[in-house]
Amino acid sequence: MSESMISIQGVSKHFGEFQALQNVDLEIKQGEFTVLLGASGCGKSTLLNLITGFIRPTEGRIVVNGREVTRVEPHCGMVFQQYALFPWLTVLENVAFGLKMKGIGKSQRNETARRFIDMVGLQGFEDKFPNALSGGMRQRVSIARVLANDPDVILLDEPFAALDAMTRQVLQDELLRIYEQSGKTIVFITHSIDEALLLSTRMLIMSARPGRIVTDLHNDLPMPRNAAVQLSPRYNELKSQIWETVQAEVMRSLEATTSR
Ligand SMILES: Nc1ncnc2c1ncn2[C@@H]1O[C@H](COP(=O)(O)OP(=O)(O)OP(=O)(O)O)[C@@H](O)[C@H]1O
Ligand SMILES: [Mg+2]
Repeated sequence: MSESMISIQGVSKHFGEFQALQNVDLEIKQGEFTVLLGASGCGKSTLLNLITGFIRPTEGRIVVNGREVTRVEPHCGMVFQQYALFPWLTVLENVAFGLKMKGIGKSQRNETARRFIDMVGLQGFEDKFPNALSGGMRQRVSIARVLANDPDVILLDEPFAALDAMTRQVLQDELLRIYEQSGKTIVFITHSIDEALLLSTRMLIMSARPGRIVTDLHNDLPMPRNAAVQLSPRYNELKSQIWETVQAEVMRSLEATTSR
């Protein structure tokens, strides 16, 4: 399918006097794996919060799956930059929460939840509460929760930043596998250019103050993105191209900060 799954039309976002996003236009097709890169504070999380309906644009409109976003809807699943679990629910109940809201019976939702808890390597922790888990474990619970809900669009805000390298690699592979099997539309924020190159089909680089999309690159590296791909000339070519653009925007944003 080629129609837009996410359509962002002339979107600006102000927080009081401060302009976080300026006139963002973006069409994301069904089945694209889009990675957002850019300096800290450039508006990446703001853009995801707008897509999912947690905040409303100051100007412009956002359409997801043919419907204008006016509130939080279950067809967008979000993994937050900060862990957002219900502290009064166990791991199993957290992961099964969305399925319960959809009216799915207890035995079926627990079975689905256990499958995703296993996938993120947390078997044995089903009955623990979030405060008994490490930061990386909590993040894995939120990833399992989103996947268990099976939304059309999966939004992930630096989901692997707090994880150790081994766990990160396992979950990157798992996410790619889910992506290839399901054809879901994914928007993923990261500060790691290697992670962007490993996962994405498209890479967007944002400028700082106010945030705009300055570079839109197709990631044409072949799948699977194994070690051979990471040693290829094309990999290094893309990597230095992104590095230079991101670096220039980071410098610009630091200069803007110090000159204020
Ligand atoms: N609710 C809010 N009220 C006021 N300002 C906000 C709010 N949310 C975000 N901002 C501001 O908007 C800008 C963009 O923030 P955002 O969280 O989108 O950045 P980011 O690109 O995700 O950064 P990071 O990489 O550090 O997570 C920042 O300057 C931030 O201070
Ligand atoms: Mg952020």
